[in-house]
Amino acid sequence: MLSLDVKIPGKEYKIHIGNKLFNEADVLLKPFVENKKVCIISDTNVFPLYGEGMENAVKKAGGDVFSLVVTAGEEAKSFKNLEYLCREIISRNFTRSDVIIALGGGVVGDLTAFCASVVLRGVTLIQCPTTLLSQVDSSVGGKTAVNIPEGKNLVGTFYQPKMVLIDTDTLTTLPPREVACGMAEVIKYGAIRDKQLAEALLKGEFKAEEVIKTCCSIKASIVENDELDKGERMLLNFGHTLGHAVENYTGYGTYSHGAAVAIGMCTITAWSERMGYTEKGTYDTIKALCEKYSLPTHIDNLENMTGAAMHDKKRSGSRISIVLVKKMGESYYEKVDVSLLSEIAKG
Ligand code: NAD
Ligand code: GLY
Repeated sequence: MLSLDVKIPGKEYKIHIGNKLFNEADVLLKPFVENKKVCIISDTNVFPLYGEGMENAVKKAGGDVFSLVVTAGEEAKSFKNLEYLCREIISRNFTRSDVIIALGGGVVGDLTAFCASVVLRGVTLIQCPTTLLSQVDSSVGGKTAVNIPEGKNLVGTFYQPKMVLIDTDTLTTLPPREVACGMAEVIKYGAIRDKQLAEALLKGEFKAEEVIKTCCSIKASIVENDELDKGERMLLNFGHTLGHAVENYTGYGTYSHGAAVAIGMCTITAWSERMGYTEKGTYDTIKALCEKYSLPTHIDNLENMTGAAMHDKKRSGSRISIVLVKKMGESYYEKVDVSLLSEIAKG
């Protein structure tokens, strides 16, 4: 098992990563769940695979467990589900010292974390992410959200978990499209902060526990400096502004989030290299990485899709933050006029 600390002052927590970690989850859960009511929230794909094991671990650790299961898919991140979860939890006489466990991908993680942050004005949250994306990204850092018709993730809170348990064995049941989706975020970490990670990925070296630990360490260090997303944390959005434009224009689900981010990372780097802001060859490296991990690198007419950026949370007036890679492993962000996005989108 590998472990690391997230050191946000006053909100410190540990991330534990291991193969078959859920089998020994009772030991790690015990300090949090013993003699507590524990609600596991999961989805209709994940619960049949890992729900019973997690329930047993909580029981073994001395918790009084029940589970709530939402229909899998992005639509689960809704106010309707939030209300359903809060009402179910409160009807079971939950108190503020009780515990909620998110067992699933980023959808379950975001919805559950939002619920944990507001029900009874905040209860203990433990994240047990089961997709690569949620293991390297969404389970760490405390962003919670539901979607509204105006856009994705537009309503949410910042709420840190008390512990993150990552069982890399859950990746064995993950569909290939979802693995590729997570790889886009892994490539992102290599591009913005870790040249060695990028080089290893390019050689096809992928040891899940180590890669996930590296990504979580990068995310932890960024979040420690900027929990509330006012500066450095924006680096995590490399490729995302154009990626959101692709997802929004083509209809969510046509391109996976990771596929859209991959297009975004390649396109903005093609532009920034052409403009002289990025070391030559960087675009080729990022493109090669995306291709190696079955991700697209281009979409026609991206310049016509950038209107969605008006709903981007990173926008302030007519300015929006863009993230550029200076060279592999080194990145920075700057504010530009939103109108520049359609130019950037030409690559
Ligand atoms: P997801 O949660 O929808 O999971 C993808 C699919 O895989 C779902 O059908 C799910 O049921 C299934 N699944 C999950 N684990 C599985 C497993 N081990 N075996 C088999 N099937 C499994 O999607 P995701 O990509 O994990 O997360 C996407 C969400 O994360 C988006 O809503 C996005 O906004 C959010 N997100 C949040 C943050 C953050 O910082 N909070 C960061 C990035 C993304
Ligand atoms: N996924 C972006 C963030 O956590 O800030």
